[in-house]
Amino acid sequence: MRLKSLATIRWQERVLVLGWIEGKLLEKGLEDPRFFRRVVRRLAYLRAGGDPERVHEMALEALNKYVDIASGSHYVLGADLRVNIAGSSIMPFGTAAGLDKNCDALEPLSYMAGFQEVGTIIVNPRKGNDRPRVAVDEKAGDLYNAQGFPSKGLDYAARKLMSYREHGGNAFILASICGLPPGPDSIDVALDETRMLLKGLDLFVDGFVWNPFSPNTAALTLLRKPRVFRQYAQLVKEKAGGRPALVKMGPYEEKDRQQWIDLAGGWMEGGGDGLVGVNTYMVPKESVPSRNWGYPSAGRSGRFLRPYRQRAIRDARREFPDSLIIATGGIDSAEEAWQAFDAGANLLEGYTPYTFHGLGLLPQMTSGVKGILRANRLGLQEYQDSIKSHYS
Ligand SMILES: Cc1cc2nc3c(=O)[nH]c(=O)nc-3n(C[C@H](O)[C@H](O)[C@H](O)COP(=O)(O)O)c2cc1C
Repeated sequence: MRLKSLATIRWQERVLVLGWIEGKLLEKGLEDPRFFRRVVRRLAYLRAGGDPERVHEMALEALNKYVDIASGSHYVLGADLRVNIAGSSIMPFGTAAGLDKNCDALEPLSYMAGFQEVGTIIVNPRKGNDRPRVAVDEKAGDLYNAQGFPSKGLDYAARKLMSYREHGGNAFILASICGLPPGPDSIDVALDETRMLLKGLDLFVDGFVWNPFSPNTAALTLLRKPRVFRQYAQLVKEKAGGRPALVKMGPYEEKDRQQWIDLAGGWMEGGGDGLVGVNTYMVPKESVPSRNWGYPSAGRSGRFLRPYRQRAIRDARREFPDSLIIATGGIDSAEEAWQAFDAGANLLEGYTPYTFHGLGLLPQMTSGVKGILRANRLGLQEYQDSIKSHYS
């Protein structure tokens, strides 16, 4: 009996010590991107058996478990970098869609990011493709995914959002949504699902992003027509009112520029406010650095997307000068962040870079951008206004 209780105490002590070490590692990893890369990330990959998706799930679990560490991180820095978005003054560095698909880490992320794009949320819970379905290219700084829209569904996300708001959470949250057409003759189903998503999330979010560009979700190609974009923009804007109604756009080659502008133009004509660029780039199976890749293709994200992101932001700012533009794709340094602002972005968001460098990248990038602005005697809002008026 005595032996047993001693063993229990030892076991409890061990759990406490391990928990303390885990917390300390997380704290240091959130402060220092180099430590995150060299220590925290490596340990996490060992523990997850090398599966990048499991590492990501563990990261969200840890952020919730050690929410007090996240809340003490003072990431949401300084008034001088804030910009005005639909009446809210926000720090323009956020998290991209996919990072918190099911609104599982709203509170910890709210202490670190200026805004969050949650989702993509779909109506019915869906497992997505079988694992492994995410691969990593360490050298290139890229991820490949063929997740196929896994989601815990609308009810789950709405409950999480409601609970966050009821507990006083006031982060700026954009909901990424998509109604899925089950087949070629069923665009109407997708439209109905989109209505349900808008209604179910309306009370809890600060704007919507309609996402018709998921890799490995072939049915979505049906939606990529200017006429359909116009129709969806009307629908989303009707619900959004004064809040932003955005569309997530994919990357494109030079030769497809006009087609891309026509699609985005459809969105703007329908009353949309702007866009998020860019989503992942579809590559064939042979390009994926994984021997057992079970899918014909994958969506590539990270550094590889930089030129595509820049092209999309420049084209969008020139064609739609007054629009709200969010840049994403390989933004992993203050210089990259500045490039995106300079091309005409209002806000920046990321996913892949945080998986390599941790969320400590956020304060590193914000202070770097502040330095660039200071050296040029500029304010960010003033700079964004001057780019807009250049094209207007
Ligand atoms: C594993 C993974 C899942 C993603 N899931 C979504 C998604 O559900 N909806 C969406 O609009 N974009 C999704 N994205 C794309 C990102 O939001 C972003 O557009 C893209 O990864 C480029 O940014 P990054 O280089 O900062 O990752 C996903 C990306 C990754 C890597």
